[in-house]
Amino acid sequence: MATIGVDALVRLEGVALGYEGAVALRDVDLSIAPGELIGIVGPSGSGKTTLLRSLLGEPERYAGTATVAPDTRVGYVPQVETVDWNFPITVEQVAMLGSWRTRRWLPWTGRAERSRARDVLRQLGIADLADRPIRALSGGQQQRTFLARALVRAPDLLLMDEPTSGVDIKTRHEILHQLAALNSAGVTVVLTTHDLNGVASHLPRLIALGEQTVLADGPPSQVLQPEVLERAYGQPMLVVRSGRETYVLPVPEEAPGAHEDGPPGPDSFDVIGRSGRDDA
Ligand SMILES: Nc1ncnc2c1ncn2[C@@H]1O[C@H](COP(=O)(O)OP(=O)(O)OP(=O)(O)O)[C@@H](O)[C@H]1O
Ligand SMILES: [Mg+2]
Repeated sequence: MATIGVDALVRLEGVALGYEGAVALRDVDLSIAPGELIGIVGPSGSGKTTLLRSLLGEPERYAGTATVAPDTRVGYVPQVETVDWNFPITVEQVAMLGSWRTRRWLPWTGRAERSRARDVLRQLGIADLADRPIRALSGGQQQRTFLARALVRAPDLLLMDEPTSGVDIKTRHEILHQLAALNSAGVTVVLTTHDLNGVASHLPRLIALGEQTVLADGPPSQVLQPEVLERAYGQPMLVVRSGRETYVLPVPEEAPGAHEDGPPGPDSFDVIGRSGRDDA
């Protein structure tokens, strides 16, 4: 990738990306400013991982220009499905892998790297797992282990591929909280997610992929629109707002009784119940 000296951290212009000559994404125009927090959404195979990895300069680029600001340190957290969890390595060893590109490689582990890794594990609440093999981790612990690897190098730009996939609601909340804190501390964060309701709708900026390109780019109010989502997911979608929350639901195709008055609208929803404190 070339480098740029302008205010954008990353800029893609007219980019086409793919693998072994086959285009996966085309006509991608994208500019990321320092300090942004961005979610990439779209169905499986729409190119979320491909777009994220393009910020590492990785998939093949067939057209356009991709530029990243000079001296940008990038941290990458892979999609958990792509990791070999049987690889015999501990949580702390994974974390320390994050530092190898930032120092002159030495065949032994520097004390500074080890201490840095321990600090990051502590910050993420998994210091007690340092000596645990990665095959013996829960989904949330796996995510944090690879987040630690990315954070060890103190990235300016943090790329996370589905950081909340396969974790429960509480862990999802904790991971998002940690990402928001990093973002507040000045780290630019780009993540991918399948979770439109629990994750995407809470982010300031979304990029929706579909039809092998960027279908929409902007705040959730602009991107989480039925027309955009139907193009992306290839099926009718319903978007509901309740207070400050936005919910996206697929319109059921053959739900009994659903079509007597057309597809369900907001009036079709009944609140079944609500738990929690009254003052929450
Ligand atoms: N290593 C690869 N070699 C060849 N084709 C690939 C490779 N990785 C991805 N693709 C193809 O590129 C397209 C985009 O894939 P990508 O992994 O970016 O989708 P995604 O949106 O991340 O999907 P998911 O939600 O399942 O993770 C798909 O058609 C996929 O089959
Ligand atoms: Mg992916």
